Amino acid sequence: MAGSKGARRNDGGPFEGHVSSPAVMEPEPAEGLTGRTWLITGVSSGLGRELATQLLKRGDRVVGTVRRRYAVADLAERHPDTLRVELLDVADTPAVRLVVDRSFAELGRIDVIVSNAGFGLFGAAEELTDAQVEHILDTNLLGSIALIRAALPRLREQGGGRIVQISSYGGQVAFAGNSLYHASKWGIEAFCESVAQEVAPFGIGVTIVEPGGARTEFRSGSAQVATPLPAYEGNPAHAYLRMLDPKNGLAPGDPARMAARIIESVDTEPAPLRLVLGSQALQSTIDTLAKRIERFEAQRGLAASTDFPPGE
Ligand SMILES: NC(=O)c1ccc[n+]([C@@H]2O[C@H](COP(=O)([O-])OP(=O)(O)OC[C@H]3O[C@@H](n4cnc5c(N)ncnc54)[C@H](OP(=O)(O)O)[C@@H]3O)[C@@H](O)[C@H]2O)c1
Repeated sequence: MAGSKGARRNDGGPFEGHVSSPAVMEPEPAEGLTGRTWLITGVSSGLGRELATQLLKRGDRVVGTVRRRYAVADLAERHPDTLRVELLDVADTPAVRLVVDRSFAELGRIDVIVSNAGFGLFGAAEELTDAQVEHILDTNLLGSIALIRAALPRLREQGGGRIVQISSYGGQVAFAGNSLYHASKWGIEAFCESVAQEVAPFGIGVTIVEPGGARTEFRSGSAQVATPLPAYEGNPAHAYLRMLDPKNGLAPGDPARMAARIIESVDTEPAPLRLVLGSQALQSTIDTLAKRIERFEAQRGLAASTDFPPGE
């Protein structure tokens, strides 16, 4: 259980560090109605913002990280006592630890850690610069690892909690033109699957969320794109050009519905290890894994041929 449903208010009183301004007040639900405290990275837009909005509305407390404070000024105005805003670039791993330590120190308890901040990088592997490669791994992979590692001792000390890692169905499936995004998401999935086994005895649950395409800033404002090489013209690596153009159709996933399913998942015991969001994402994952198993089955003889014969 990721924290009981009792009140989670801190002894320290109202959250500090929020954006203060003359409040256009929406009445906050009575204290303790839902009562969990969440730490969510990347609440300026998309899934992170939806999660924060829904949680604050129902009366939970949120530490939300952003790179630009004004991005959540409206939320901070509406929820001055329950939203704490922290400035954080998750690629700065020492800063990740500082924010986690400060948040636990000041709030006393955090029930759910949501590692959400991330972005997409599109282009053939050869077309990417070293800086682009490092930046996406620093953000999506090392930033998430730093967040989880920093939170683990605190979650253990408080007797449990829940970690939610936002991955992608691209953490199971791979398409041309997305190699580094996949490397970051496959990598974080492996990390989480291993850590989940290590921390279950401490009452810490881990859920890897695998959304399909959703209508966030992911394909527009946030997407980073390589400088194309002429050799790759017409290559499958450039299919992203079609995908990123809204004239070819919008992503099917609703970030508000996705956020609702993620919030509900925290009430499920034991924590589901994976949560696929979106019918297309689920079908693509099933098809990919079925094909992979079929190909593994075909290798039984070959795999066994490298074992020592019995008794040797
Ligand atoms: N939308 C999709 O189709 C889709 C599908 C599968 C998985 N996902 C995953 O869902 C997660 C959320 O993305 P989204 O779809 O909600 O896109 P989004 O609207 O672009 O939101 C991404 C969030 O991550 C933050 N972020 C990016 N890099 C950061 C960094 N270095 N440090 C701190 N914050 C950073 C952004 O902050 P700024 O405003 O400062 O940039 C923003 O708050 C990502 O992990 C993404 O990989 C998305």
